[in-house]
Amino acid sequence: MKLSSKLSFFILAATTAVILVMGTSYYFISKNFYQSQLEGEVKDRLQAHRDAIESEPAEATFEHVILMERRNIENSFIIFNEDFTVQAETGAISEEDLEVYQSWIAAAESSRHGGAGFVETVEQHIPHIWAFEPIVVDGEITAFLFIDQDTGEFETIKQSLIMLIVIMSAAALVFSGIMVIYYTNKITSPLVKLRQTTKEIASGNFNVEFSRRERDELSFLIEDISSMAKQLKEYRDTKQSFLSNISHDLRTPLTYIKAYSAFLKERDGDQEVQEQSGIIYKEAERMEKLVQDLFHLMKLEEGNEPLMCQRTDLSPFLSEVISKVRFLTKEKNLTVTENYHQESIHVELDAFQMERALLNLMENCIRHTPEGGSLKIGTALINGQAMIEISDNGEGIPQEALLNIWDRFYRVDKARNSEKGGSGLGLPITKQIVKQHGGTIQVSSNPGKGTTFYIYLNAES
Ligand SMILES: Nc1ncnc2c1ncn2[C@@H]1O[C@H](COP(=O)(O)OP(=O)(O)OP(=O)(O)O)[C@@H](O)[C@H]1O
Ligand SMILES: [Mg+2]
Repeated sequence: MKLSSKLSFFILAATTAVILVMGTSYYFISKNFYQSQLEGEVKDRLQAHRDAIESEPAEATFEHVILMERRNIENSFIIFNEDFTVQAETGAISEEDLEVYQSWIAAAESSRHGGAGFVETVEQHIPHIWAFEPIVVDGEITAFLFIDQDTGEFETIKQSLIMLIVIMSAAALVFSGIMVIYYTNKITSPLVKLRQTTKEIASGNFNVEFSRRERDELSFLIEDISSMAKQLKEYRDTKQSFLSNISHDLRTPLTYIKAYSAFLKERDGDQEVQEQSGIIYKEAERMEKLVQDLFHLMKLEEGNEPLMCQRTDLSPFLSEVISKVRFLTKEKNLTVTENYHQESIHVELDAFQMERALLNLMENCIRHTPEGGSLKIGTALINGQAMIEISDNGEGIPQEALLNIWDRFYRVDKARNSEKGGSGLGLPITKQIVKQHGGTIQVSSNPGKGTTFYIYLNAES
C-alpha cells in the first residue's frame, strides 16, 4: 500500500469517526432539547389550566379550558372526575383509549403531583406526550386534567435534523477528502522524487540536484542525502583515480619483469633457474592481464573509453568471435552450437569492445564446463530488441551468488577459480561494455545444469 493511500485512508477514517461521533451527539442533544421543550410546554399548559380551575372551580372555567384545548388539533384533552369517569373531553375518544389513559394516570397518581412522559404509540409509530395534573380543592383531589399530545411537529423537526446532519457529514467528508488528497500529495510527491534520487545515487549517478523551498524535516533529509551523494562521489573519484594510477604505474615494471623472466627461462644453463623464471613469467602475465583489465574497467567506468560503433550483422560477427575460442573448445572437446535468427539482425556496436565482452562470457562458459560439454550461441529478435544468448551445461552459479557476479573481483569459489586463473573482472567489464551500448545483460543459472547469459541490444531495422 502506498504511503499516500495509507495516510489518506487513516485521515479519512479518523475524520469519518469524528463526524459520526459529532453527528450522533448533536442529534441526541438536539433531540433531548426538543423533547424537554415540548414536555415543558405541555406541562405548563396543564398547570395553567389547573391554576385557573383551582382558583375558579366553576362550570364556565371547565368549558373555557376545553374550548382552548379544542383549538389544538394534535391532542386529546380529557377532564376526569376523581373516580376516573370522564367529565369533559375535546373530541370523541374510544373506550379502549380511555381505559389505557385511566390506568396510566392511576399508576402515576400515587404522588399528589402531576406527571408527564413520552409514550410510543404503536399504531402511529410517533411518540406522544402524556401528561396529567390533579385538581385539588380544599385538600381533596376533585378531578384530573389529562393531555395526549401528538409529537408530529417534533417528528418533522427530527427528520430535518437527521437530513441536516447527513448533508453536513457528507459535505465535511467530501471537503476533508479533497484536503487529504491535496496534502498527502504535497507531502508524498517530494518523497517519491527523493526515492528516485536515491535510486540514481544507488545506480552510481552522484550528480543529483534536488532542493526544497520549505524548511521542514523533508528539506533536512534532502540536504543530508545530497551531502551523502557528494561524499560518495568524492570517495568514488578518489578510489577510481587511485586504481587507475596504480594500474597504470604497475604496467611498466611488469613489462620489465616479463621481459627479463622470458629471457632467463629461454637461456641455456641452470634448469632450476629456467623453471623458476617460467613461473615468474606466468605470474607476471597473469598480473599484466589483471592490470590491463583493471585499467580497462576504470576507463569504462569513468566514461573515458569512447565507442566506435558501426552497423553490424550479428550472426557473422558472433561466428568470428567464436572462431577465436575454437582452440579452447577443442581442447575441452566441447560441442559448439550456433543457432541464429533466420533473418539478419543488425545492431550498432563497437566490434572491438563487444568482442571483449562476448569473449569473456564464452571463456567463462568454457572454463566452467567439464570436458565433453556444450556451448551454445544464439540470437533472437524480442519486441524489436536483439538478444544474444550464450549458454553452457557446466557447473552453474548458485542462486545467492547471481547478484554478486557483476561486482569487481567477485568469484564464486575463490580457491577453485584462482586455480583456473580468473581475477573476477571479466563480468563487470562485460556489463559496462553492454551498458555503454545502451543494452542490458542478464543471467540465469541452474547449479549442476548450466548457465545462460542474455544480452539485449537495440536492433536496427
Ligand atoms: N558460465 C559460468 N558458469 C559458472 N560460473 C560462472 C560462469 N560465468 C561466470 N561464473 C562465475 O562468476 C565469477 C565471475 O566471473 P568473471 O568473468 O567476472 O571473473 P573470472 O572469469 O573469474 O575472471 P576474469 O574474467 O577476470 O578472468 C567467476 O569467477 C565464476 O565463479
Ligand atoms: Mg571471466
